[in-house]
Amino acid sequence: MAGERRIAVIGAGLMGHGIAQIFAGNGWHVSLMDVDEAILSKACQGIRANLTLLAENGIGALEDVEPALGRIGTTLSLEEAAADADLVIEAVAERLDLKQELFRKLDALCPSGTILATNTSVMSITEIASRAENRGRIVGTHFWNPPYLVPLVEVVPGDDTVPEVVNSVYDILKEVGKHPVKVRRDVPGFVGNRLQHALWREAISIVDQGIADAATVDEVIKNGFGIRLPVLGPLETADMVGLDLTLQIHDYILPHLDRSTGPAPILRSKVEKGEIGFKAGRGFEEWSNEAIEECRRRLLNHLIAWTKQSR
Ligand code: NAI
Repeated sequence: MAGERRIAVIGAGLMGHGIAQIFAGNGWHVSLMDVDEAILSKACQGIRANLTLLAENGIGALEDVEPALGRIGTTLSLEEAAADADLVIEAVAERLDLKQELFRKLDALCPSGTILATNTSVMSITEIASRAENRGRIVGTHFWNPPYLVPLVEVVPGDDTVPEVVNSVYDILKEVGKHPVKVRRDVPGFVGNRLQHALWREAISIVDQGIADAATVDEVIKNGFGIRLPVLGPLETADMVGLDLTLQIHDYILPHLDRSTGPAPILRSKVEKGEIGFKAGRGFEEWSNEAIEECRRRLLNHLIAWTKQSR
């Protein structure tokens, strides 16, 4: 029964607390584990604030907020978190050795039926699983930020993952209201981040070459093909305009697109100068505190409106 199922979420940071929220909100008992007590307490405060904001916007009910929080237990002990979990989702920092060691331990600690999932955004599931003995139960579940508002989760098998594990975790994700997709093979960046970073590479290259400034690049996307993307993916668009036309365009334009296999010089130089974006008040653009707040609010409002209209 859904109400009796248990998940352990390892890492209570930006992604982990949002993943815990999804499962607690759907009747699962959650054991949220981190190495830092202060992060666990901040995570619970964040979950309460998120659920309240959603309920105030008609997504869920205010009277369900405290019961959801009541289903979350926090712990600093991996053993305690893993003990009787049906599913474990790991959301610790994106470091291969850390994840490999965690999955070796989880594999040794968890009952044989427990599914072990990683929320890595780009790294190989096969490599993450490589120190564990029972690699068949280790799978990628790549959520997107914020995980309680962005529907997609990429389910990615490692080379050794058994199909039943992929199918089970896919079904669970559907049950808790996500939009899972199955990726066929374990490749760096899976599907979403390969697509996203192909676009970012070209966007940064356009700025680097002085073809347009950063604001103009973003304007082109937000007022142009970006508006179509939620309802028409690029392959549907290719079919709509015709593959014959797509072929002609590719014949002409592909030689002119950025094909570099390393980061753009402008990106490196900005990072070297400390111009790393919101955190520094300057990245590709200048960011005042007010502009940062406004940008965050705009994104949240958009995602909430999107969630409401797609229910
Ligand atoms: P974060 O830095 O906000 O949280 C990571 C948490 O892991 C921290 O609270 C840290 O104390 C904890 N931690 C570190 N070592 C630990 C250990 N041994 N055991 C338990 N907890 C430990 O990072 P964030 O952004 O939540 O990312 C987590 C994972 O999710 C990464 O693999 C990242 O690539 C992936 N991801 C991140 C997205 C994002 O937009 N930030 C989107 C999709 C995936």
